[in-house]
Amino acid sequence: MLTIGDVLRRSTDHLAARGAEQPRLHAERLLAHALAMERVELYMHLDRPLAPAELDAARALLARRAQGEPLQYVLGEWGFRRLTLRVDRRALIPRPETETVVERCLALLAGSDAPRVLDVGTGSGAIALAIADELSAARVTAIDVSEEALGLARENAARTGIAVELIQHDLFAGLPGNGWDLVVANPPYVRDEELATLDAGVVDWEPGLALVERGHTEALAREAVRALRPGGALVLETHEGAAPRVAALLEAHGYAGVVVTRDLAGRDRVVEGRAPAA
Ligand SMILES: C[S@@+](CC[C@H](N)C(=O)[O-])C[C@H]1O[C@@H](n2cnc3c(N)ncnc32)[C@H](O)[C@@H]1O
Repeated sequence: MLTIGDVLRRSTDHLAARGAEQPRLHAERLLAHALAMERVELYMHLDRPLAPAELDAARALLARRAQGEPLQYVLGEWGFRRLTLRVDRRALIPRPETETVVERCLALLAGSDAPRVLDVGTGSGAIALAIADELSAARVTAIDVSEEALGLARENAARTGIAVELIQHDLFAGLPGNGWDLVVANPPYVRDEELATLDAGVVDWEPGLALVERGHTEALAREAVRALRPGGALVLETHEGAAPRVAALLEAHGYAGVVVTRDLAGRDRVVEGRAPAA
């Protein structure tokens, strides 16, 4: 009978042979998930044999990862700030740099009394749910053009028990409502010509609608200046290297106090500005 130690070793070798990144770590996460254990527990039970059903479950997860499916989709859930969200092919996998976007929103909203927040292109609901979770006074609305993504965001709202308003809406039709205290977005920002250079795990598995830039950032700068209350904040995640261009775009639209923030990896990834006073 194969033990936990055997399966870990074989899975790591299998993933490494398929060119997967961090094969040992991924093998650990997959096996821990199949056995409903923490990763550290695997090492406390290396000699424990796997029952046939456990082995089947571990093999099924490993096969998906070995075929290139992102680890997060195979596991079906992923951490974002304080939350564990359901993730699948309906929406982008929430990224660490987007946690910095939430950080800036919380800093800008600190001290506000029941601020109204609009998350544009909510995907899994990550930004909207994290803000509502960490700032319970906030009233958060989230939009997405994708019904599939909204379905996932609804499941995440139900799973976390956090109340946010979710609406299907196309940014290019303008932003809903007005007088928002804060508008936030992690918009699609990959250019068509860049797609070929991206990791296959991204291009082949994550929704194209979430990735490919079609003038979203410009539309957000243009529309949010109308939809925000005077002095309200726009917070945008940007492509690596694009922060100076996005900062200039906000200034050209009349935003004041334009600031660029680095993510935890030290890359300029978040741009914010305040709508001009009326
Ligand atoms: C980069 S993903 C961000 C998802 C999520 N906010 C996050 O940070 O993980 C961009 C999202 O914008 C949505 N989107 C694309 N075009 C849109 C449009 N015209 N109007 C509204 N949402 C749009 C996509 O469906 C996708 O969910």
